[in-house]
Amino acid sequence: MLFKKTAVIGHPVDHSLSPTIHNYWIKNLRMNVPDYKKIDVQPEGFNDEINNLVDQGYYGLNVTVPLKELAYKIADQLSDVSKATKAVNTLVFKNGIIFGTNTDPVGFESSLAKNIIENKIKNKKCLVLGAGGSARAIIYALDKMSGKISVYNRTAEKVIALKKEMKINIEVLDDAETNKRLEEFSFIVNTTSLGLPSGPQNDLVDFRNATRSCFVYDLIYKPRETGFMKQAQANDLTVQNGLNMLVGQAAASFYIWHGVNPKVSADLIQTLATD
Ligand code: ATR
Repeated sequence: MLFKKTAVIGHPVDHSLSPTIHNYWIKNLRMNVPDYKKIDVQPEGFNDEINNLVDQGYYGLNVTVPLKELAYKIADQLSDVSKATKAVNTLVFKNGIIFGTNTDPVGFESSLAKNIIENKIKNKKCLVLGAGGSARAIIYALDKMSGKISVYNRTAEKVIALKKEMKINIEVLDDAETNKRLEEFSFIVNTTSLGLPSGPQNDLVDFRNATRSCFVYDLIYKPRETGFMKQAQANDLTVQNGLNMLVGQAAASFYIWHGVNPKVSADLIQTLATD
């Protein structure tokens, strides 16, 4: 039996919920593998640290902020989804090869109820706020789900570059247009870092202009209820945070490493809700 050592790397990584999720599955599925660890890795010296971890016998790593692009660069082989999103959140070390993929898009899709995909995304207008690494994952997933995508980002040039690179049909919006046309969207997703604790609040849209049936998603899960979500709820809109996406991307990584599809149980979500 091969002992598959796995961990999450990031900087900082202390507050990562990934160990709670993976170790929950490792324990409940009685996997014959070591505990999933968290390892602080600084961007400087990233390649040396990866080689170190390979020498220590690591089989797989999750990669979080700010290392996803460095992980993309170090990989010998990349999945199509990584190529499209220019990011790697999952590394596999096998036969002397570093393989990189990105499970964020599938994590996002799996976090959505079927009726939301059918009624709010498929052939419907979806608004993405932001154009960073997370936005790429969401745009990739929305495109696969046949959403019609519009993007607003503070720095418009980034959206234009993203559109060119991803070769996805995206409408580029400015601030004024976004709010003027908010009622057109049946799905609005925040991928910016606005709303994280100790950072500025997210006031990018005025939900008074949205249609009542619009579904609002915030990728942030800390806090579990962001100001963005509260503003949407105050206007009678249905909201979702990023917790289930976090679990979804973890499940996809778990499958890649261990060949086992872990269950996303209510008990696990409950464990995380209080973590
Ligand atoms: P991630 O990998 O989580 O997506 P990122 O690539 O650094 O992180 O992207 C952060 C996103 O949040 C960007 O869309 C960024 O907008 P810019 O491209 O204009 O920088 C957005 N963002 C961060 N702070 C912001 C702020 N104060 N106002 C508006 N957008 C902000």
